[in-house]
Amino acid sequence: MANVSVNISGAPYEVHVERGLLDRAGERVRALTAASRVAVVTDIRVAPLYLEPLRRSLSAAGLEPVDVTITAGEAHKTLATVEMIYDRLLDARIDRATPIVALGGGVVGDVAGFAAATILRGVPLVQVPTTLLAMVDASVGGKTGVNHLRGKNLIGAFHQPHAVLIDPNVLASLPAWQLSNGLAECIKHELIRDADGFARLEQGIERALSLDMNYLEELIAHNVAIKASVVEADPLERGERAHLNFGHTFAHAIESSMNYDIAHGRAVGLGIVAASYLSMRLGSVQQSEFERIRSLLARARLHTGGVQTPTEGLINAMRRDKKIQSGQLRFVLLDGIGRAVVRDDVPQDLVREALAMIR
Ligand SMILES: NC(=O)c1ccc[n+]([C@@H]2O[C@H](COP(=O)([O-])OP(=O)(O)OC[C@H]3O[C@@H](n4cnc5c(N)ncnc54)[C@H](O)[C@@H]3O)[C@@H](O)[C@H]2O)c1
Ligand SMILES: [Zn+2]
Repeated sequence: MANVSVNISGAPYEVHVERGLLDRAGERVRALTAASRVAVVTDIRVAPLYLEPLRRSLSAAGLEPVDVTITAGEAHKTLATVEMIYDRLLDARIDRATPIVALGGGVVGDVAGFAAATILRGVPLVQVPTTLLAMVDASVGGKTGVNHLRGKNLIGAFHQPHAVLIDPNVLASLPAWQLSNGLAECIKHELIRDADGFARLEQGIERALSLDMNYLEELIAHNVAIKASVVEADPLERGERAHLNFGHTFAHAIESSMNYDIAHGRAVGLGIVAASYLSMRLGSVQQSEFERIRSLLARARLHTGGVQTPTEGLINAMRRDKKIQSGQLRFVLLDGIGRAVVRDDVPQDLVREALAMIR
């Protein structure tokens, strides 16, 4: 069991990582609110697994749950889904004190979070992430939003949660490849901030894959702490928070060129290979470090090659990325394992080489 404080000025909150926490979620939500009702947003895959235990726990704590179940999947991270949530919650006459509890992966967290940021000009949000990716990444930091036909996550708001409740036990039902997607973000966190953490993950990766819950609890708390420290330093992404985009300029290009028919974590794994290679070619990562990174990704059962989109297509997609400023391609790179740097002076031919590396 571990607690991580996220010290955002004006909106601090706690992330609780605790096996079996789902059954005790009611008391934690009760402690945060004087409301008598709670809205629970989840998706059709998660609902049959975990909605009942959550409802039971909320009721036992004297909170009446109103639930909304959305269709699962990235394709439903849309304004239409948010409107459906508005309709249901306004019909149920929620008020500004009614918290929204997001029970699910990053899609539910982002959609329910955006609904919480906007309905009645904002209601409290509690994240109960159920994928490893949502636990270590999406549920912490306050980014919420939906996709638009023009691109991913183009509509959104910053809305910090009042609390994040993580029960590692729910990972037992997660398909193995989804666990690997979350591990891609864990590897990213260690690479940008913690060389010792990277070495510990090299030791422990098999324990994570075999769902050793003691190990996962520790890994999740450690990764939440890394994400929290970056977000605390730069809550609105004006500077150093960009480090969390390590591997993501490439990943976003891969995702968009494949019409999002690839899991985010999988694309991030490939992006990490390309960005680490680029760092090596620019002299800030040694070949032995590059090999360690690639090998850890492979052991996490992520892909390290096989991208089929032509290089030009990927370069064009990178140019369209919303995070690119003033036309110059900007990359988060490594200065050795454990340290990130931002560079916007990377020669084009090296970018092409890095893309060739993940074919
Ligand atoms: N807000 C942020 O800061 C942030 C950060 C990273 C990613 N994201 C977003 O997160 C999304 C990806 O999140 P994701 O990978 O969790 O995807 P997801 O929410 O689509 O979940 C993956 C699948 O697993 C199912 N599922 C969830 N928990 C389960 C469990 N315990 N057992 C069995 N099945 C379960 C879901 O129903 C879904 O089908 C993307 O939309 C991405 O943009 C947001
Ligand atoms: Zn990511």
